[in-house]
Amino acid sequence: MMFRGIIKYVAFFGVLVGIAIITRVLEQVVEKASPKAPKTNENDDQLVRRDLTNTDSPSSPLKNTAQAKLEITVEQPKTGEKKIVKKLSLKTIVYAVTPTYARFLQKAELTRLSQTLKHVKDFHWIVVEDSYQKTPLVTRFLANSGLNYTHLNIRTPVELRPLKNKPRWTKARGVEQRNIAIKWLRDNININKTNGVVYFADDDNTYDIRLFEEMRDIKKIGVWPVAFTGAARYAGPLCKDGRVVGFYTNWRPSRTFPLDMAAFAINVKRLIVDKPKAHFDADAKPGDLENSFLEQVGTREDLEARASNCSKVYNN
Ligand SMILES: *[C@@H]1O[C@H](CO)[C@@H](O)[C@H](O)[C@H]1NC(C)=O
Ligand SMILES: *[C@@H]1O[C@H](CO)[C@@H](O)[C@H](O)[C@H]1NC(C)=O
Ligand SMILES: *[C@@H]1O[C@H](CO)[C@@H](O)[C@H](O)[C@H]1NC(C)=O
Repeated sequence: MMFRGIIKYVAFFGVLVGIAIITRVLEQVVEKASPKAPKTNENDDQLVRRDLTNTDSPSSPLKNTAQAKLEITVEQPKTGEKKIVKKLSLKTIVYAVTPTYARFLQKAELTRLSQTLKHVKDFHWIVVEDSYQKTPLVTRFLANSGLNYTHLNIRTPVELRPLKNKPRWTKARGVEQRNIAIKWLRDNININKTNGVVYFADDDNTYDIRLFEEMRDIKKIGVWPVAFTGAARYAGPLCKDGRVVGFYTNWRPSRTFPLDMAAFAINVKRLIVDKPKAHFDADAKPGDLENSFLEQVGTREDLEARASNCSKVYNN
């Protein structure tokens, strides 16, 4: 009896090992069949500051901008002559800028975000990796995302990375990545042919899709409250009759714009034509990054209340 029991276990174990071997062989076959990306050589400490070289992916889907031409034919009542009135009606593209970096949960968080973004119409995603080269993971991920996207990368310079023995928040994250995305917008959008708004959507936040429609008609800078930020359950602007009348935050309320990165979006014309030099300041303290950027983009008077006079919270 006992002998038969042992044989059963041995047979069972054998089957398991067999399955494991077959799986491994199959994996290797699949890996061989798929194209290999170049190996990354992370000489982290040699690089000081890189120019904004590595920019657009050659197959960027957004080369010709969104543009819908309407031709309206009007019949002149007296002469019977037909006159063509050309109208140019532009739809507004929402550009979301997402800095990302390699970590355990990266693909999970990008997946979660991308599935939200798939519900947004007339949308363009600018994903910027903090890396010397575009990684195979993000490259494949974007190619399969079904979204309009541009894939960029720039490695944060050594002096801007947090020291190993210092807490994470001592240096602002995503500065160079957002700046290279703004540069891409300036280089690639023809403002005479494209309406757009820019939103800085980090990959570890959650967004209600209604937020993207709230931001679409922003003329200058649109703002709204955000959950779990500003050392509070929510923080952001206080609004009345479509205007911002104050701010609610527990964290440094003296700032001109005590706003979270997720609490505002900007009309691209502001960044390209009106304020062509505005950028995220690498020397800004992490808690002052949004403020120092917005101070270059406009004044408090330029703020437009969204989310039903800032009474709704659509993201964190
Ligand atoms: C992709 O971009 C084009 C051009 O900007 C735009 O017309 C189209 O609506 C976008 N598609 C989606 C699904 O957002
Ligand atoms: C947009 O139009 C303005 C005024 O007509 C012109 O000065 C400018 O060069 C145009 N910009 C581009 C990028 O075509
Ligand atoms: C904001 O408040 C004003 C006045 O109370 C109101 O007329 C307007 O419809 C509100 N806007 C939104 C989007 O709820």
